[in-house]
Amino acid sequence: MYNRLYIINTMPTTKADSDAGRDRRHFLARFLQWTLGLFSLILVYPLLRFLGYTVKPKPRHMTVAAPLPLSGYHTERDFILFAGDGKPFAVSRTCTHLGCRVNFLEDKQIIECPCHQSRFSPRGKVLSGPAKKNLTTLAVVTKKTADGEVKDYIVTL
Ligand code: FES
Repeated sequence: MYNRLYIINTMPTTKADSDAGRDRRHFLARFLQWTLGLFSLILVYPLLRFLGYTVKPKPRHMTVAAPLPLSGYHTERDFILFAGDGKPFAVSRTCTHLGCRVNFLEDKQIIECPCHQSRFSPRGKVLSGPAKKNLTTLAVVTKKTADGEVKDYIVTL
């Protein structure tokens, strides 16, 4: 039978063995840190992209039937359409100050914001603040019948 006891010495016997072991542990620790850092980035990156991502809205086309009222303008929820002098134009109703919905004051021929009384010309130009930027102008396409009569106005938001 075997009655000898074998002892496996795992301790480094020389200084060179000790340094090699320390270098290996150091390398493995660094490798593990970099691997975890990389995996963290891989997991966090999509989340950061999601948080910072804004979806650009598709353009909407709104149709306004002709003729416009005799007043020469038509108000919708998001825009005001003016007949112009044969060349229709539209401006957004979103105030450039803080986003309230502006109204056209027919008697004064100005667009005014009910929130902080910014005033704009019918073309959307700032007349008085606090808004500093003009109202957004919107593209208007005129659809005509075969006779050349205006049938619809198509406003692109
Ligand atoms: S939101 Fe229109 S003036 Fe402030």
